[in-house]
Amino acid sequence: MCGIIGILGKHEVAPQLVEALRRLEYRGYDSAGIATVNAGVLDRRRAVGKLVNLSDRLVHDPLAGKSGIGHTRWATHGAATETNAHPHRAGKVAVVHNGIVENFRPLREELEADGYAPEGQTDTEVVALLVAREMDRGAAPRDAALSVIDRLEGAFALAFLFDGEEDLMIGARKGSPLAVGHGEGEMFLGSDAIALAPFTNRITYLDEGDRVILTRAGVEILDAEGTRVPRAMARIDVGATQIDKGGFRHFMAKEIAQQPAVLADALAHYVPSDLNMPLDFRAVDRLTLVACGTAHYACHVAKYWFEQIARLPVDIDIASEFRYRDPVLTDRQWAVFVSQSGETADTLAALRHATGRVGKTVAVVNVATSSMAREVDVALPILAGVEVGVASTKAFSCQLLVLLLMALKAAHDRRVIDDATLTARLAEVRTLPGLMNQAMTVADPIAALSDDLAEAQDILFLGRGPIYPLALEGALKLKELSYIHAEGYPSGELKHGPIALIDSHVPVVVLAPRDALFDKTVSNMQEVMARHGRVLLISDAQGLAEAGAGCWRTVRMPDVPDVLAPLVYAVPAQLLAYHTAVAKGTDVDQPRNLAKSVTVE
Ligand code: AGP
Repeated sequence: MCGIIGILGKHEVAPQLVEALRRLEYRGYDSAGIATVNAGVLDRRRAVGKLVNLSDRLVHDPLAGKSGIGHTRWATHGAATETNAHPHRAGKVAVVHNGIVENFRPLREELEADGYAPEGQTDTEVVALLVAREMDRGAAPRDAALSVIDRLEGAFALAFLFDGEEDLMIGARKGSPLAVGHGEGEMFLGSDAIALAPFTNRITYLDEGDRVILTRAGVEILDAEGTRVPRAMARIDVGATQIDKGGFRHFMAKEIAQQPAVLADALAHYVPSDLNMPLDFRAVDRLTLVACGTAHYACHVAKYWFEQIARLPVDIDIASEFRYRDPVLTDRQWAVFVSQSGETADTLAALRHATGRVGKTVAVVNVATSSMAREVDVALPILAGVEVGVASTKAFSCQLLVLLLMALKAAHDRRVIDDATLTARLAEVRTLPGLMNQAMTVADPIAALSDDLAEAQDILFLGRGPIYPLALEGALKLKELSYIHAEGYPSGELKHGPIALIDSHVPVVVLAPRDALFDKTVSNMQEVMARHGRVLLISDAQGLAEAGAGCWRTVRMPDVPDVLAPLVYAVPAQLLAYHTAVAKGTDVDQPRNLAKSVTVE
């Protein structure tokens, strides 16, 4: 996904645009650019790579003006080049865009037939050329932009700026988030409240299909039919959008360390005394849990909990596959969508497929103002706070906590557990923040391993039962942060083929709390050791005493109740990836090719 910002300001706007883009860089960082109108003249600066490259460019080649737009890009169409960097401009218009215009090819052919030839390969440049053509045909900027927006298919958040127009900005939202910021004698447009927080706490979140016409005097909002509509203005907690590393070297390190505290916040919200979960599971026969990436692995763990604790059948789906398997959905089922950002296009598309086909849609989501949170029947905030690191950590553990509490509520509603058992289970869950704190002590022994892991070409992660999805998550973390190939397997599956990968060069990370499946996992681990695989066993004191001998390395975890092991064992998985990435020197908070939330399908 990309980040967009627009400002009709009172002061020189370039520094504010760059500050907003710095706060949006987590959304994509392949290139960045700004455009301003100064003394009626539209101009722009763009740079490939991180935002710092644009900042450097502006030092040597400044851009004046009090009206401007800005963009930080995660490439969809066209390589990360300056030609493909936003803002795109044609004639008297400049535009920035987050999303994908799915019908841009026929539109580009139409333009080329009219003599409007794009310079680059992006869908966004086609939008700029369409507006320029309308203006060449005599349309005023507002009419030109609105008529073109009507022709676009796909997902887009757009901001337009016009030559000769110091006090006009047009925006539109369809499938990608966009918010209006209300200032004193200035107005703002941005992808999210994080970008707008330095300028205002008065935010209007646009609805699907909305168009906006901004001047410094205010905003006119039109719905998809062109009818003027009112949209509520909210006051956001600016503090909640603070993004700083707090003394840590990376956002990811800070966010790993925040887990005990944010889990305590989530517990205080959902278990102030009794369980405060606004769902009644008596009317539901089945759940479908839908998500992407790390959030999908949280769903995978939750499947064990719902089925083992509540005896409630659960399907889990990768969001981008969900609607294409044409699932059988009934009104006795609920669909639960799990997402940190609440803007992931694949998960949103799955939600829109399920809406009206199931009895209830539920979101387990971190960004409470996100599209997902606003489109479901019931939104359950995970209260992890702003997560800036592209690799999801504290959001994962908070998703797991909320899903576990849902499973306990389901078990109690379905009379699988009685009041006393629920009370006892909740007391056990309340120990989680302390256990997470204890788990943080494995950071040093894991950091000591990282140089060895950083040299590996392939790394396997093994786990059984509800720890198997942790093996998948550990492999994903390592892949996305250190660029080392890693795979997660159920430990019983290795002997059915993947064991052919094992030799003395392959580290095998075994996540094995001393639970009922421990002995089975140890047997699988010994099959690996018999073939000279380098086993890193992560277990508790008893587990290491029983099976640690002969392992390449061991890491000792605190003793944890079985039900909490998937949450607590997330910490070593996260730290392994973090320290290996640091040892390799990759960009921990903004790994190559990635974005924090993928708002394109
Ligand atoms: C997690 O570390 C990854 N960055 C990625 O898999 C992420 O979990 C996935 O894109 C889903 O994002 P969401 O939770 O915002 O929907």
